[in-house]
Amino acid sequence: MDQAQLRAPETLEELIKQLYEIFSTDKINVEEVHALMESYKSNPADWSKFAKFDKYSSIHDHSNSHCFLKLLQGQLKETLFDWPDAKHKNQELTRKWVKIFHENQCTYINDTIGVHRVENVSHTESAVSLHLYSPPFNNCHCFDERTGHKNQVQMIFWSKFGERTPFETSVSKENN
Ligand code: NI
Repeated sequence: MDQAQLRAPETLEELIKQLYEIFSTDKINVEEVHALMESYKSNPADWSKFAKFDKYSSIHDHSNSHCFLKLLQGQLKETLFDWPDAKHKNQELTRKWVKIFHENQCTYINDTIGVHRVENVSHTESAVSLHLYSPPFNNCHCFDERTGHKNQVQMIFWSKFGERTPFETSVSKENN
């Protein structure tokens, strides 16, 4: 599809619907998804019930998936690093660049680009971002900036559809 033909989604729901259409085939056009994500003008009424606030500052990879990150509110700083050099262990990660993303902007990363850290630099304004990962993944790696050492971490859902995800051990089946 030609990017010029893209219709800007008026709601988050419409954005998701259009994303489902794009991702219904195996071919992903990164520029097209990026343009679509940016074309949605953030409206807190669409997403406030899904917004959960947490610290997000570790350097991580993306398990061979595409990752699109769109700013719904505030600003985020993305620091991109080269992958740790396998030949030179215990070396500090090399920074490739630092970029600030503003409301409605979208950034894209995959493992061939590097690993990154995303953080809110404002102490007064919260930041909200929408992340799209394709294909989904269960694990990724976190990196120590000073040594390049990595640890595997498991991805979990903090919430689903705006509802706090119950911990299996603490919620009985009768409540579901
Ligand atoms: Ni990421």
